[in-house]
Amino acid sequence: MNNTNWFHEARYGMFIHWGAYSVAARGEWAANRERIPFDEYKRLYAENFRAENYDPAAWAALAKDAGMGYAVLTTRHHDGFALWPTKAGEFHVGNMGPRRDLVGPFVEAFRAAGLRVGFYYSPANWFHPDYPGSCFRDWPGVDDWKSDEARQRFIAYYRAQLRELMTQYGKIDYLWYDGCIPDNLQCAEANEEMLRLQPHLLINERNGKPWHVQISEQAIKPAAPGVAWEACMTLNDNWGYHAGDSHWKRPGQVIQMLTETAAKAGNLLLNVGPKADGTIPGESAAILREAGAWLRRNGESIYNSSRSPFTWNNWGRVTTRGNKVYLHIWNNTGPELCFAEMKNRVQSARFLDGGGPIAFEQKADRLVLRGLPVSLRDLLATTIVLQVEGDPETLTPQTSFWIPGEPAT
Ligand code: GLC
Repeated sequence: MNNTNWFHEARYGMFIHWGAYSVAARGEWAANRERIPFDEYKRLYAENFRAENYDPAAWAALAKDAGMGYAVLTTRHHDGFALWPTKAGEFHVGNMGPRRDLVGPFVEAFRAAGLRVGFYYSPANWFHPDYPGSCFRDWPGVDDWKSDEARQRFIAYYRAQLRELMTQYGKIDYLWYDGCIPDNLQCAEANEEMLRLQPHLLINERNGKPWHVQISEQAIKPAAPGVAWEACMTLNDNWGYHAGDSHWKRPGQVIQMLTETAAKAGNLLLNVGPKADGTIPGESAAILREAGAWLRRNGESIYNSSRSPFTWNNWGRVTTRGNKVYLHIWNNTGPELCFAEMKNRVQSARFLDGGGPIAFEQKADRLVLRGLPVSLRDLLATTIVLQVEGDPETLTPQTSFWIPGEPAT
């Protein structure tokens, strides 16, 4: 089992969906949803994907400001357009559009900023001649391939691309598969080969075994205790750039998602969809920066958090780390707050972002904090840190009914 320490410490990463579809500006599934013929897709989108303002150092600086520890770039999405000049196939950035490698500069810039680097790669490729079809809505079944030879050629093709990604760019930390067809594409062998090439690599679960990270997409569904997991989320309603989507999440919602995942020892991989020129939409950058400022004040409660035994309440969420319990409050309860889920004796209470001790009383099962400001001190989430005796323990493990944020059993 590969070491997931860095992943736990990071807790928060940047997902980057960028490619020919960014020109269409209608999300990354445009080719499939609109049944766009290959020639048209190539002419209108791949050819016009110029990346003229691509500045991966600016992306990396934003990820740092946001408080993120890693990033995952779509090196090739389901449309098959590779962001590096691959020798396996013709549909790539070396032959058209920017006419240069985009993956190498990404790796260099993020590494230089001290961030871990991940590659998203989709085995599925709608436009590949051996693939069952560009408008395939689902992933193909064994009988959908034109022939077994076609399937074998496709396997050789996608493995060659992966091999390039795993050998041409130095150390890669994370291989993020999507659009996988584990039963059709000899995935275990592919994964094992990539692990031979990059022994420290973490692999997500989507390409079958062996894998290290379980994924929860557009939802926060924790894995079983002891299993590394990651919730991937959009910042509006799309992964790829969509000019008409203004359903942005608020910075406070980002903090809530982050707190919810950190409470269950999981990571949040939060998406940005850069425009075709390479710039990240201003709205995304502003939201990430505001949440990042909160993390600078309160990051101790998130990074490397343990799996909290506490379930839920109506004012916020609780994360834990060692003998510390962090109460994240976003629904204000006024000058008093009651936390009645914990067995441990409290030694001290204070705001994580500074200030003196908070008065508290612990009577039997109930901890009551007193003298809190009438209005929330931090509108994104006010964090109180409790120093407790022993490992944090819940009073009543709740298992008899559905609990938000708990894995389904
Ligand atoms: C889905 C979509 C894809 C997106 C991915 C992110 O599988 O097919 O467009 O990249 O989710 O998790």
